Amino acid sequence: MNILLLGAGGREHALAWKIAASPLADRLYCAPGNAGIAREAECVTLDIANRAAVIEFCRANRIDLVVVGPEAPLVAGIVDDLEAAGIKTFGPTRAAARLEGSKGFTKDLCRANDIPTARYERFDAKDAARGYLRKVGAPIVVKADGLAAGKGVVVAQTLAEAEAAIDMMFAGGLGAAGAEVVIEEFLVGEEASFFALCDGENAIALASAQDHKRVGDGDTGPNTGGMGAYSPAPVMTEEMTQRTMDEIVRPTLRAMKAMGAPYKGVLFAGLMITGDGPKLIEYNVRFGDPETQVLMLRLMSDLVPALIASRDGQLKNFDLRWYSDAALTVVMAAKGYPGDYARGSAIEGLESAAEIEGVEIFHAGTRSDGDRILANGGRVLNVSARGKTVGEAQQRAYRAIGRIRWPDGFCRRDIGWQAVNRERGG
Ligand SMILES: Nc1ncnc2c1ncn2[C@@H]1O[C@H](COP(=O)(O)OP(=O)(O)O)[C@@H](O)[C@H]1O
Ligand SMILES: [Mg+2]
Repeated sequence: MNILLLGAGGREHALAWKIAASPLADRLYCAPGNAGIAREAECVTLDIANRAAVIEFCRANRIDLVVVGPEAPLVAGIVDDLEAAGIKTFGPTRAAARLEGSKGFTKDLCRANDIPTARYERFDAKDAARGYLRKVGAPIVVKADGLAAGKGVVVAQTLAEAEAAIDMMFAGGLGAAGAEVVIEEFLVGEEASFFALCDGENAIALASAQDHKRVGDGDTGPNTGGMGAYSPAPVMTEEMTQRTMDEIVRPTLRAMKAMGAPYKGVLFAGLMITGDGPKLIEYNVRFGDPETQVLMLRLMSDLVPALIASRDGQLKNFDLRWYSDAALTVVMAAKGYPGDYARGSAIEGLESAAEIEGVEIFHAGTRSDGDRILANGGRVLNVSARGKTVGEAQQRAYRAIGRIRWPDGFCRRDIGWQAVNRERGG
């Protein structure tokens, strides 16, 4: 098969690494890719927002399967266009991608189907939103309805913060994404990322993971796209996984099918594990980043047949095998991230770092310049490792980081701390 992967981050490097290992993959292309992905795939300069150009590329290169990494093209309807052109594509249609594209859509779906989630109301005008805030008080969570690249949610501890968030969103601070907002109850519990592969009707649970959103050690400082992750998530016991499938994922698939928008692709449920069990924080309609990096390290089975079965509606009797090992990834970012940062600094020592047992280094934002690897983004590397425990994976990842020479980069030193404490019986 000839396969085209769309995207340029660490998630796509991990997917490319796994797809390239499949005996089914003859040629693997990635658009636009990065310096690490170029080791697994042929990187092509193709504007993935230009659907006509993507279709033309697929025809010219006899692409048998397209795998879409990021959410924006999915929400914009790339799967509909490629499938209409006769090109098999892994991922949800535009109508199904509303599960990520509109938080209000997902909240209404939960309400209509008794799917556990935070209590909420939707607003398209400031005054009504402010009135509701005064009624319910803080702590409270304000969310822009649309895609906001991780900047659309304010967890407000005070009414003043919540009001400021409402004012910012209705003043156009997040563009069209904030033209409507969801205001929801503040949930208390432990967060987990849960992934299920779906074929429109059936779902199979993938693994769980936990990520670290804050930039600083001890989970302090501003939010980021994610500074590290590990899998499995200790809080996702067998029972919680079962409950999540029964109470959240399967009812969602039934509801989507009933409204004529069957969901195919990977469904990423952001969960809060509360005293009452799992509650849905949000859905994403694609693989998580950096969670995919640890999931791919733990997946024993060939990924490609699973992607095809999802697209073809054939997951009913499908099975995936996983290594019992844990996996952990540490994000190395450019100094200044998530604020302003510089591009173009050189990174050395990657080959020696990758020699450590169990270590795999995925590139999130790099480009090559002759033989040199240069930083080319905020999140730049995902130094990942497998181990018998999260603790062992953590030690290996940080040992690898110790061999990387990149004065302009930084990372958190405590990725996985909760799981490691648990393993130590703390
Ligand atoms: N109802 C809630 N209660 C407590 N925390 C929440 C709630 N909703 C969101 N959060 C926090 O805000 C983060 C971002 O919210 P989320 O809905 O996942 O939006 P996005 O990932 O699109 O920015 C979550 O990971 C969680 O930490
Ligand atoms: Mg989220």
